[in-house]
Amino acid sequence: MGSAGPNEPGDLPHPYDPTFTDRVIAATGPKANARLAEIMPSLVRHLHDFARESNLTVAEWIAGVEFINECGRMSTDKRNETQLLCDILGLESLVDEITAKLLVGAAASTTPSAILGPFYRQGAPSLPNGSSIVRGLSPSLPWYERALEDATFIHGRDSTKAMLPLAGATIDVWHTAPNGLYEQQDDAQPDMNLRGRFTTDELGRFSFYCLRPVAYAIPDDGPAGRLLGMLDRGPFRPAHIHFLVEAEGHKTLVTQVFDAEDRWVGDDSVFAVKEELVVRYERREGDERARWGLEYDFVLARDGGEA
Ligand code: BEZ
Ligand code: FE
Repeated sequence: MGSAGPNEPGDLPHPYDPTFTDRVIAATGPKANARLAEIMPSLVRHLHDFARESNLTVAEWIAGVEFINECGRMSTDKRNETQLLCDILGLESLVDEITAKLLVGAAASTTPSAILGPFYRQGAPSLPNGSSIVRGLSPSLPWYERALEDATFIHGRDSTKAMLPLAGATIDVWHTAPNGLYEQQDDAQPDMNLRGRFTTDELGRFSFYCLRPVAYAIPDDGPAGRLLGMLDRGPFRPAHIHFLVEAEGHKTLVTQVFDAEDRWVGDDSVFAVKEELVVRYERREGDERARWGLEYDFVLARDGGEA
């Protein structure tokens, strides 16, 4: 069924008032917000078509309303259940792709974006290149041995699309501890553990120590997790590190880098993996601070769209 208007040839006939959707759309007034006036007719049509195609009952609609209310009630500054719901429906990944194509164009030569996710925190400590984002590592932590095993050195360069080095770019990085939890989810971790902000040198270079990331389950003890269960889906995300790269005169890049050896790399519960963002960590020799190494370069698009 295409819309609420008279049935189009090829549409299945439905028994519902064929003028109803058009009347709802026509209720928008002449002083409506311009962007809303542009997009609401489409939203209303899709919503109404969904209800008609599914023969949605009042009881089912109420269950949906209560589900969304529960997401809202559960959301705090440490947990965004409504965003999580969007993530498992693929909506954050889709709007991320749309935004990147609108802002950067379809430029194949720049680093692809990936979703920000609900665990980014502003105000990560600024650290000198070559320092570590691992804080308060102590043998009392249950994942201490794993952290030693996973110690990793990451370095790379930021450059423009024309491959000119980007000096003074900032790179925000964050990932989970080996128990699969971000520091704000875990009282045993120090504030801002496994988060840092680095600035590229005159050749566009950055470097830091971290841990080779692990796969983790997104929080599944709320309504979004219940929905995953009802859909017979799993909660896992493949091992990844988040990056937010900013450079003057360039589009901000939000992305994630995924471990090729992770078993979930082809089955991400939030649909964020892109081929160009999948990497292989190498064994690192001669560095007592790290067993693994990764070189990864970021290529940013200019604000104007050109190189
Ligand atoms: C994350 O990568 O941090 C994330 C993304 C979507 C949902 C949950 C977590
Ligand atoms: Fe993450």
